[in-house]
Amino acid sequence: MITFELDGTEVSVTDDSGSLLDALREQLGCRSPKDGCSPQGQCGCCTVLVDGAPRVSCVTPARRVAGRSVTTVDGLDPALRDRLVEAFVDNGASQCGFCTPGILVRLAALADRRGDPGETAVRSALLAHLCRCTGWHSIVEAACSALGSAPVPARASARDPLLAAWRAALEGPAFQSSGPPTVLGRGGFADDTAPPDALVAVPGSDGSPVVAPTLAEARARSAKVQGRNSTVALRHPLAVPEGEWALTLRTTWVEPAYLEPDASWCGPGGRPASALANGGAFGGKRRSAVGPLARRLADEHGRAVRVLFSREHAVRHGPKRPPIAAGVRADGSGVLRVARTEQTFGLDVFRARVAAVAPGLVVEPVDVAGPPVSSDLRGAGWVEATVLLAVLGARAEGRGGPDTPIEVTGPSGGRARARVAADGAVRVEVFAGEILDAVTLRSYCLGAVHQALGWVWSEGIAVDEAGEVHDLTIRSFGILAARDTPSVEVAMQASDKWPVNGSDAVFAATAAAAWLAGGLGQDWPTQRGRRSPPSARSAP
Ligand code: FES
Ligand code: FES
Repeated sequence: MITFELDGTEVSVTDDSGSLLDALREQLGCRSPKDGCSPQGQCGCCTVLVDGAPRVSCVTPARRVAGRSVTTVDGLDPALRDRLVEAFVDNGASQCGFCTPGILVRLAALADRRGDPGETAVRSALLAHLCRCTGWHSIVEAACSALGSAPVPARASARDPLLAAWRAALEGPAFQSSGPPTVLGRGGFADDTAPPDALVAVPGSDGSPVVAPTLAEARARSAKVQGRNSTVALRHPLAVPEGEWALTLRTTWVEPAYLEPDASWCGPGGRPASALANGGAFGGKRRSAVGPLARRLADEHGRAVRVLFSREHAVRHGPKRPPIAAGVRADGSGVLRVARTEQTFGLDVFRARVAAVAPGLVVEPVDVAGPPVSSDLRGAGWVEATVLLAVLGARAEGRGGPDTPIEVTGPSGGRARARVAADGAVRVEVFAGEILDAVTLRSYCLGAVHQALGWVWSEGIAVDEAGEVHDLTIRSFGILAARDTPSVEVAMQASDKWPVNGSDAVFAATAAAAWLAGGLGQDWPTQRGRRSPPSARSAP
């Protein structure tokens, strides 16, 4: 047995040579530290304090904490925790909330070391974390507000949670609560709500599920070797068609990179727990296999079964944004090639979206070996066609380079105008009907800007010609870190019109503006040196 103090109480766990994260979640039922990438140790979702110092618990052997003190978000000083939670709610710094408990623990350690750490120290501390939803600014603002000397403005009480949830549902698009329970890691994630005696299923080395009484046993029996960072270069699987084009673009495989790996559980004859408990995962989990698999296994075994994908499995088998290669003439006509793999979802939808905004662009599917691709991912097809036409339009008007305003209208009528400066700074205006909740709309727009900049500048995963995915760790996707995210201003136009999605238009407008600002390099990502995401300082 290993004995240690957890949030002020002495506890003991069996020494099974496992990680501290597994001891906390599996043996002690402590669900606030999250498993976003174990055993990669790269996302920060599992961060706890060991004797007051932040530690990534998925790579900390449980043995190492024998006789020591472990603190999760639940055991933080209540006054500090309340201050952090209030600031996160006030600033919209938590969307799905999966990354948030680990970030709060890290910030609490920062608060203990200095009076007012300042923004630079906050951004440095956040380097140990990844957040896919928020785009960092709201997190930095919340942290500075909670840890700084300025009082936290009490805005939360002035906000209507129903209107906030309505706005989140428009932007997600899925139900999402960002109140205090979510910030504390209680967003209802499927793997947190599974019965403690449920069997556990993980994918085996051949992809078929391995079922065992405990997660440790299931993993051991699956005999899987976890993915590592690769040195394989990014590849653009499609060639631009021959022709005299005014504009060409190639994109590569892009991982949706939602932080909560697919999970579900189900009892016999029951309804599987949703893999989308608190957010839409950018469309990436819409067809996730975990729910139906949990139901099937529960029926087969006659008892509840948890199904859990590892990060590595989600990357290998989850859907990617389909790579494209396009050539467009000045009149907007041309060819847009799109990758079609063995598992391609929604090609008709992709084609229809392109036709709706760019009727002169012929969509040409090209069969390639690769992971699943899906039109479910954030406006796939519409965004690519919109970016091409918006850039073409700007050039036709003699506009280009940094600070060129790009305006687009989204499929639901939301509009956005974006410009990207030479230093990477972004200014966005959004028209999304009645704002409903300004904090929520702004948070989603900041997240959309962050994702668009990453797509254009740095994101992609290496997939070889045989279709094998090589970048299996979450840090290898090229997601912009807090320190590399440029300043972003979001202006929301008040309106009494019916509320509509605004962040998808922000996503497309920002991508187009960033591409123009960077000189229209033919291949996205435009700036990625392997292993070193671009920084705002080196932005074009
Ligand atoms: S789960 Fe530990 S760092 Fe990602
Ligand atoms: S709120 Fe950070 S990953 Fe979703």
